[in-house]
Amino acid sequence: MEKTLIFLKPDVYEKRILGKVISAIEDQKKYNILEMRMDRLNEERAREFYSVHKEKPFFKDLVKYVCRGPILVMLLEGRDVISGIRKFMGDTDPLKADKNTLRGKFGESLDSNVIHGSDSKESAKKEISFFFPEKLFE
Ligand code: RTP
Ligand code: MG
Repeated sequence: MEKTLIFLKPDVYEKRILGKVISAIEDQKKYNILEMRMDRLNEERAREFYSVHKEKPFFKDLVKYVCRGPILVMLLEGRDVISGIRKFMGDTDPLKADKNTLRGKFGESLDSNVIHGSDSKESAKKEISFFFPEKLFE
C-alpha cells in the first residue's frame, strides 16, 4: 500500500463542491482517506510547498491561487495511489483534461484546476510531512 498527499484547491471551496469532489474520489472504490482537514496556506507556506516551481513564470500566480481561500488536505492510501490519483486528476490544464477526470469535470483554468497531487514517492513523503508531520513514515 502506498500513500500520497492531495489537496482540493480554493476554487473547490469557492464553488461549494467539496462534497462532489470527495464523492468522485470515493466512487473510485480504490483509495482510503486516512486523514482529512480544512487548512489554509499563507504566502510563506505556499512558496515553500511549491518551491520546485520557484523559477517558473507562473510561480507568483500559483502562490496567489492556492492562498486565496481554504483548501481541503487529504492523506490517501491505496495500491499505486500516487500515479492512480494523478491519472484521475487529469491534465494540469482543465481545458485539455479528459471529461472523465476531476479537472475535466470540475476545473476551469490553470488557476481553477481543482486539485493538487504528489507526483512521486519522494514528493509524497515530503508533502505528507508538510501537512501531517505527526504521520511521518519510512
Ligand atoms: P499540482 O502540482 O498542483 O498537482 O499540478 P500539476 O502537477 O498537474 O502541475 P505543475 O506543473 O506541478 O504546476 C503546479 C500548478 O501551477 C499552475 N500552473 N500554471 N500558467 C501555467 O502555465 C501554469 N502551469 C501550471 C497550476 O495550478 C498547476 O496545477
Ligand atoms: Mg505538480
